[in-house]
Amino acid sequence: MNQLTKAISFLLVLLMISCGGNTENTQEENTISSRDEIRLKQYMVQGAKIYSTYCANCHQDDGKGLAALYPPLAGSDYLMEDFARAACIIKNGQAKEIVVNGVAYSQLMPGNPITNLEVAEVLTYVTNSWGNEGGLMGVKDIDKWIDACEEE
Ligand code: HEC
Repeated sequence: MNQLTKAISFLLVLLMISCGGNTENTQEENTISSRDEIRLKQYMVQGAKIYSTYCANCHQDDGKGLAALYPPLAGSDYLMEDFARAACIIKNGQAKEIVVNGVAYSQLMPGNPITNLEVAEVLTYVTNSWGNEGGLMGVKDIDKWIDACEEE
């Protein structure tokens, strides 16, 4: 009986140690993901303001664009397939013909006088609104992407 009690306590201690380890891991992961979630929320709020100042005139409040002139951002295959390219277009503008969801567009989009942080915020906003789900666009990635933009 005494032996059995010892064995059971030993097992209990083992169990607690292994559970303890798991809890630590999960807490660490939670901290990282909740930090990103908070940043995502902040970027969405800031990004919405930047969007209405710099983008909504053309791409519209609902992100659906305007006829054959301005391409949609809502559900845009072109936007969602290459975030680095999107960051460059937002910063520097673009004039060449592109195809968005099967429709060709060739009007000029002018560049925007905004910082890389603001690009991160507005890119986060447009890739996470109207059904788009791109996740957080970190400013470190934006710095890298904008440094590597091709000359138009
Ligand atoms: C003067 C109108 C205008 C404004 C303002 C404007 N755009 Fe554009 N945008 C365009 C046009 C026109 C194109 C297509 C350019 C081309 O043919 O290469 C485009 C293309 C894009 C694309 C790639 C195509 C797509 O639909 O996915 C993205 C992303 C984009 N714009 C985001 C933005 C964001 C974000 C802002 C605000 C910071 C902005 N645009 C402001 C007119 C505009």
